[in-house]
Amino acid sequence: MSVADLPKVELHLHHEGAAPPAFIRQLAHEKKVDLSGIFTDEGGYKFTDFVNFLRTYEAATAVLQTPEDFGRLTSAVLEECAASNAIYVESFLSPEFCGGGDLGAWREYLQAVQEAARDAEARHGILLRGIVTCIRHEGPEVAKRTALCAAETAGDWIVGFGMGGDEGKGHQGDFAYSFDMAREAGLRLTTHAGEFGGPDSVWEAIRDLNVERIGHGVRAIEDKALVQELVARDITLEVCPGSNVVLGLYKNFAHHPIKRLRDAGVKVTISTDDPPFFGTTLRREYEMLAQAHGWDAADFKAINQTAARAAFCDADTRDGLLKRLEDA
Ligand code: ADE
Ligand code: ZN
Repeated sequence: MSVADLPKVELHLHHEGAAPPAFIRQLAHEKKVDLSGIFTDEGGYKFTDFVNFLRTYEAATAVLQTPEDFGRLTSAVLEECAASNAIYVESFLSPEFCGGGDLGAWREYLQAVQEAARDAEARHGILLRGIVTCIRHEGPEVAKRTALCAAETAGDWIVGFGMGGDEGKGHQGDFAYSFDMAREAGLRLTTHAGEFGGPDSVWEAIRDLNVERIGHGVRAIEDKALVQELVARDITLEVCPGSNVVLGLYKNFAHHPIKRLRDAGVKVTISTDDPPFFGTTLRREYEMLAQAHGWDAADFKAINQTAARAAFCDADTRDGLLKRLEDA
């Protein structure tokens, strides 16, 4: 069996960022929105660098206007995940894209997403859980509104709170109020750091937000003391190698620090971030990593067990995942 066929646990996937371009194009056609500028001639998403990527991303979300649209998006995304044999996915959902931060609207979007997820579970056995995500470049005040939506819908399905967006704007600590609100509501915490921010951004995430997982975090490799701190605190990194390569952090998979981080004892997991934007799938990430670092099925099994243990779902769900990984 190829490592690409193994069952997989994905902890870092942006719901809108996983939208197949053909799906967004179809919605644009139905809603008569002109999105031609965001696609390449080959039909992929067009962007030049990280900030421009965020702009393309947000332009694409303009056609996701109703709960029904998000239900259809969820079906399309989970079809792709299931094709990579993902058995469990945590995806980032932002109330800002789902009703503009209004709690009542957010509940309706959430219901549509959950209904589509139930259908996908029945069809493919794949499980989805949600992490409510604030958008850093929209600032701390907007994040409070997002955190309120998260706190009000926290439970078995909305299991975490996180932050994405432009790491160049502000500091992690600016969002401490929102992360505290989410924590008090029982949500588990993650934040993007150490992607475009250097090691300092990871230190801030740990010290100022007290998160237990970090989105990317790979630039921690530049600071030995930080690597030791990640190990000591048992922090899990949601690593997305293909995303980092396309956005220019590393030249290729062989230069990516995931192996060095793992060898140093850091808990690393493998995810895709915004797969159609980066021309990747979970399957491809495994193939590329196997090729670049010589990892075999036992390595990937161990990494998936790490991911299952770091998943924000309840204990019964986690035990079920561990059993499925063991039985495979
Ligand atoms: N939002 C969507 N993808 C992202 C990424 N890779 N980093 C930060 N924010 C994002
Ligand atoms: Zn991300």
